[in-house]
Amino acid sequence: MTRGPAAGKTVVLGVTGGIAAYKAVEVCRRLVDAGVHVVPVLTEDATRFVGEVTFSALASEPVQKSMWSEADPIPHTRLGQRADLVLVVPATARFLGCYANGISDGLLSATVLATRAPVMVCPAMHTEMWEHPAVQENLATLRRRQVLVVDPAQGRLAGGDVGAGRLADPDDIVAAALAVLGSVARGQDLAGRRVVVSAGGTREPIDPVRFISNRSSGKQGHAVAEAAATRGAEVVLVTTATRPAPAGIDVVKVETAAEMEAAMLEHSAAADIVVMAAAVADFRLKAPADTKLSKADGVPELVLEPTPDILAELGRRRRDGQVLVGFAAETHDMTSRAASKLRGKNLDFMVANDVSAQHVGFDHDTNAVTILGSDGTCREIPLTSKLEVAHAILDSVIVRLGGQRPGGGIRRAGASGGDDNSRRDS
Ligand code: CTP
Repeated sequence: MTRGPAAGKTVVLGVTGGIAAYKAVEVCRRLVDAGVHVVPVLTEDATRFVGEVTFSALASEPVQKSMWSEADPIPHTRLGQRADLVLVVPATARFLGCYANGISDGLLSATVLATRAPVMVCPAMHTEMWEHPAVQENLATLRRRQVLVVDPAQGRLAGGDVGAGRLADPDDIVAAALAVLGSVARGQDLAGRRVVVSAGGTREPIDPVRFISNRSSGKQGHAVAEAAATRGAEVVLVTTATRPAPAGIDVVKVETAAEMEAAMLEHSAAADIVVMAAAVADFRLKAPADTKLSKADGVPELVLEPTPDILAELGRRRRDGQVLVGFAAETHDMTSRAASKLRGKNLDFMVANDVSAQHVGFDHDTNAVTILGSDGTCREIPLTSKLEVAHAILDSVIVRLGGQRPGGGIRRAGASGGDDNSRRDS
C-alpha cells in the first residue's frame, strides 16, 4: 500500500466483544501497512473472540486491556492524548450505550471519554439489536456529538441469519479511517483558495419526458468538492446530481451541457482551481420536441449535434495561475487517450480511470486512478474511497500551485502573477 498523509499518525484501535472482532485483525494489519502507528485496546469480552497475541504481533504496540497498570496510572488519559483517531471495530450495543451515556466501565470506554481526537465507531450486532430504539437513539446522540459512524452492512450474521448489522467491509473501514487521518494531517492547506468543481452526467432532452444521459453518479465530483471544503477552500459545485452536498458548499444545480457550460464559465473566471469531474454528453438533439413523442407517430429520427467542449473552452480562457483538472473515464488505451486529452484541452492534470475495471468509476464508492501531469508526472492511486482519490488529486494541485498566493499571483518579489511557466504543454 502507498504511504499517504496518514503515515506516522496514531490510531487507538478499540476492539469490543462481538463475533466481528476477528475482522479487526485485518483492519489492524491494513492500517499498519499504510504506515499508521496502531495501539490496540481490547475489552475483556473481545479476548473471548480473538487472542491478544494476534493483535500484539500485528500492531505497533502490545495490547492494552486494563485501567490498572503499574507502569502507567492513567492509561486512558495517555491513550486519549496520543491518538489522532480512536477507531472502535466492532462496536457492540453495550459499548455504544456506555459511550452515549458517558459511562466509563473499562479502559476503552474511559479512553473515548478522555480524548479530544476524532472517534469513529463501527457497530456490528444482530439485526434485532441494531434496530432496537435504544441502540438507534444512542447512535443518534453520538452522531450529534460529531462521533463518526461507519454504518453496518446487510449480510450474513452469526448463526446463519441474514439482515442488517453485519460489520462494514474492513476495506471501507480502513478507507474511512485513512480519510480522517489524512484530513488531520492536511489541515487547512486550501484556505483562501476558490475551487470550482463540476459533477454528474448531463441530461440532454429528447422531449419533455425523455433525455440522453450517461452512468455518472456525481460521487467523485462531490467528493472533490467535499475534500476541498474540508481543507478550507471556498467551493462552488456545479452538479446535475441530486445527492446532498456537504455544508458550506455553494451548489449550482444544472441539467444540460449548455447550462453546465454557462455556470462553469461564470464561476471559473475567478477560481484558483477548476476540476471538471462531470461526464458531459458529447451530443444533444438538434431540435428537442416540445411535446411528448408518441409511438403512434412512428420511430422518431433523432438528429444530433455536438455539445460545447466545456473543458477545452476553460483551457482556452484560463487565467494565469489557475490550475485546471480534467477527468478521463476510459475503457481502453487509458493512458495514451488521457494524455492526448491533457494536451489537447490545455490542462495541468488529467485524472484517468479505467471504468471497465471492478469497483472503479461510475456509481461505485471506490475508485482507482492515474493522475497525469502536464509536466510529465504520473501518479497511480490504487483502489480506495472516492474521498481519498479526491484528496490525492488536491495534493497534486497544491504542489502545482506551489508558491502562488490565493487569487492568483506568484509569491516572489516583483512577480505580477503572469509568469507561471509551469504550463508548457499547450
Ligand atoms: N468534457 C467537457 N465537455 C464535453 C465533453 C467532455 O468539458 N462536451 C470534459 C469532461 O468533463 C472531462 C474531460 O472533458 O473532464 C474528458 O472527457 P471525455 O468524455 O473523456 O473526453 P472527450 O473529449 O469527450 O472525448 P471522447 O468522449 O471522445 O473520449
